[in-house]
Amino acid sequence: MELGYINGKFVSLDENVLPIDERGHQFGDGVYEVIRFYNGKPFMLMEHLERLVKSANAIRLPITDTLDDFRKLILTAAEKSQLSECNVYLQITRGIATRNHLFPDVPVSITMTVREAKPLVRELREKGAAVITHPDERWVNCYIKSLNLLPNILAKQAAHDAGCFEAILVRDGIVTEGSSSNVFIVKDGTVITPPLSKRILAGITRMAVIEIIRESGVPYAEKDFSETELLNADEVFITSTTAEILPVVSINGSKIGGGLPGEITKRLYQKFQERISKL
Ligand code: PDD
Repeated sequence: MELGYINGKFVSLDENVLPIDERGHQFGDGVYEVIRFYNGKPFMLMEHLERLVKSANAIRLPITDTLDDFRKLILTAAEKSQLSECNVYLQITRGIATRNHLFPDVPVSITMTVREAKPLVRELREKGAAVITHPDERWVNCYIKSLNLLPNILAKQAAHDAGCFEAILVRDGIVTEGSSSNVFIVKDGTVITPPLSKRILAGITRMAVIEIIRESGVPYAEKDFSETELLNADEVFITSTTAEILPVVSINGSKIGGGLPGEITKRLYQKFQERISKL
């Protein structure tokens, strides 16, 4: 059963629970995570929680819960839902207080949703995704998984309006990441992804893919690449908790790798699935 959680209480998803002065609603003043459960087991839960705490510290959220408290909370929520394939979203905001930009002296709010994780449309998974490139109009601290997603939403909608799955963001001619994913290219057998910086989110799926690449001995480099290099890549794929490893076969209407998912991308996805099956 899909369910929600707010400040100590499990609720149904359609229950009205948020006061108007909740700062997540008023200001987007908070951070979040999404964790995928496969067959009832979380994928890289502690890595997600470490990033959550890093995001919270970066915006000076006064959290009192420990990593272990969050771990237990998320495991309890997933168990309560009885959904073995689910996504748990967890948000922490600066709490409920009369609207004022300054930090209030109130406890943070913790909310969660547990929803069934539906596999991507089969055709997308098997034939690959079409994407667009889009200016990266976000702020300078994109390593924080902030609830403020307006530029991401606008970019994703622009992609959707163009009949595409994702928008790949470009800042000063350099590819940063997707609106809700990280980006990899393959050129002459080498897998390349932008290095971690404040300009991108340190994706957990990205981390898993890099581990798989290292284990498999595939040539690999973390370095910036331009929009032109993206368009001229042999293979392109995006990674995220919800899309896993997804081949990109067209960018701005031009085919990548002859319009078919690349061999290295397919091999990495297979290894990714092996990891999941061992959870
Ligand atoms: N988004 N970059 C951005 C901007 C993201 O929003 C995401 C994830 C990623 C990939 O991170 P990870 O592999 O840890 O999921 C990169 C999630 C899926 C979301 O907002 O729903």
